[in-house]
Amino acid sequence: MLAFVRRSLVTLCIATPALAGAQQPEGFKNLQVLPKDISRADLLATMRRFTASLGVRCSDCHVVKNPGQMPEQLDPSLDDKEMKKVARMMLQMTMDINGKYLVQTGRTFTPRTRVTCETCHRGASKPRTLAAEVMGALEAKDADSAVTRYRELREKSYGRAMYDFGEASLPMMADELTRARRGDDAMKLLQLNLEFYPKSGMTYSAIAMGQAQRGDTAAAVATIEKGLAASPDNPQLKQLLARLKGERPQP
Ligand code: HEC
Ligand code: HEC
Repeated sequence: MLAFVRRSLVTLCIATPALAGAQQPEGFKNLQVLPKDISRADLLATMRRFTASLGVRCSDCHVVKNPGQMPEQLDPSLDDKEMKKVARMMLQMTMDINGKYLVQTGRTFTPRTRVTCETCHRGASKPRTLAAEVMGALEAKDADSAVTRYRELREKSYGRAMYDFGEASLPMMADELTRARRGDDAMKLLQLNLEFYPKSGMTYSAIAMGQAQRGDTAAAVATIEKGLAASPDNPQLKQLLARLKGERPQP
């Protein structure tokens, strides 16, 4: 029974198993988390899912016995690579999320809605938010390298599931910077956003608000007018313009 429960947890986490049946030990030497009697087909399907979900190769986790030669020969039973050890912990973590925590919600999860490597990784070996990457570059160096990082990631990963390049991402980071009194850095990110979202009302209003806060009302008004030219019905921009001109905002 325990073995059955364990197996069903594992298969929940990994590739859809081949039809249940008597599974023979396949001579794997060092399975510590996956069931020791997993079939070769299920194990390999699981490994292929790892590579696809993380965007890596077998040899990123497994030792190559004949480096430099083709075809590559692996010794997947060795634990010499740190990536493999991390992956094993991740596998255990993923099984715990599904087997312990999601179960406790009392809701039902199907093989498609449960957590898998892909839920977090989405094709990247280091799953990070766009803000972690862009703000990380900014904290490590400056706003220009943050802009460069955004461009690089967008060039490489736009249209994939890794990062949210939507209209609101850079304004959200800019807001964090504004609150930390780093208005100039915030401006660079907002200008960058206009390049990709030239009609973005939220971006124009954030720029205008920054200008107004510095006491440059004329620049703020000009920004809003530019914004309204691009996006004439934007209520946020209309309200801000009324406020700056000392009119009562329209309800
Ligand atoms: C992200 C890391 C990662 C990638 C990529 C990966 N593996 Fe693995 N592999 C593991 C881990 C972790 C285990 C051990 C699982 C356990 O302890 O239950 C394992 C175990 C194995 C085993 C069983 C070895 C034994 O005898 O114990 C084989 C065979 C294997 N992998 C083949 C492959 C192949 C082929 C690929 C490429 C298609 C691949 N792996 C890609 C992490 C990875
Ligand atoms: C709940 C989210 C989550 C799930 C699910 C998850 N991971 Fe991870 N994984 C992470 C995070 C976060 C990191 C660290 C990223 C960083 O360093 O910025 C990471 C890092 C890793 C790394 C190290 C990558 C590197 O380049 O150093 C490996 C290998 C890995 N995960 C394998 C897996 C595998 C295999 C699975 C599925 C069995 C999995 N992960 C499931 C969140 C997750």
